Amino acid sequence: MAVQISPSILSADFARLAEAAAAIPNADWLHVDVMDNHFVPNLTIGLPVVESLLKATSTPLDCHLMIEDPDRWAPAYAEAGVGSVTVHAEAAKAPIRTLRQIRAAGARAGLALNPATPVEPYEDLLGEIDMLLVMTVDPGFGGQKFLDVVLPKISRARTLIDKHGGQVWLQVDGGVSEQTIERCAEAGADVFVAGNAVYGADDPARAVDGLRALAEK
Ligand code: DX5
Ligand code: ZN
Repeated sequence: MAVQISPSILSADFARLAEAAAAIPNADWLHVDVMDNHFVPNLTIGLPVVESLLKATSTPLDCHLMIEDPDRWAPAYAEAGVGSVTVHAEAAKAPIRTLRQIRAAGARAGLALNPATPVEPYEDLLGEIDMLLVMTVDPGFGGQKFLDVVLPKISRARTLIDKHGGQVWLQVDGGVSEQTIERCAEAGADVFVAGNAVYGADDPARAVDGLRALAEK
């Protein structure tokens, strides 16, 4: 289970996104939070900015769609060349169709669960996805406090994934830092999103290495 680090540009300077991408050459992914002010109470960026980012960096993009209508939008992100497209279980009205469209367009398909959404109802969808995202904050903002209450769900998700062959990556997002990443790794997560812990650091690349070392312990 190789550890992967996906820094979130939500905590970067939005006028300098190309520089933010260039600052973390040692990251596995660049996490892009797309918010529509409907699914979450915040508004960020959409497809045009993502298309520009794709041209600005060779780091694969990990797009986390916190939007009300992912069925309408997710396939377009995959078609644009995004490496991984994640939709929220709470928002998707036709998740199986949407996840299949993401894969058909050549991207990895992710399914995200809010902190209060149980994982068990989605067991049968594990064959339709490449990554399960267990949110460790209620989505909408960077810099929130890690929710310890989600740790048992990460462990249960790991058990379900292993039962189904273990190919699905298990991502955590929200409040992941040097203080919390080891607990996430112990619970079974293998892909770690970090916004503040990377872009709030003096040296973002060093922060990526530090997080990776702790997760690999
Ligand atoms: C929150 C976003 C996260 C956010 C994480 O809704 O999905 O990706 O950027 O930021 P930190 O790591 O600062 O909690
Ligand atoms: Zn995110």
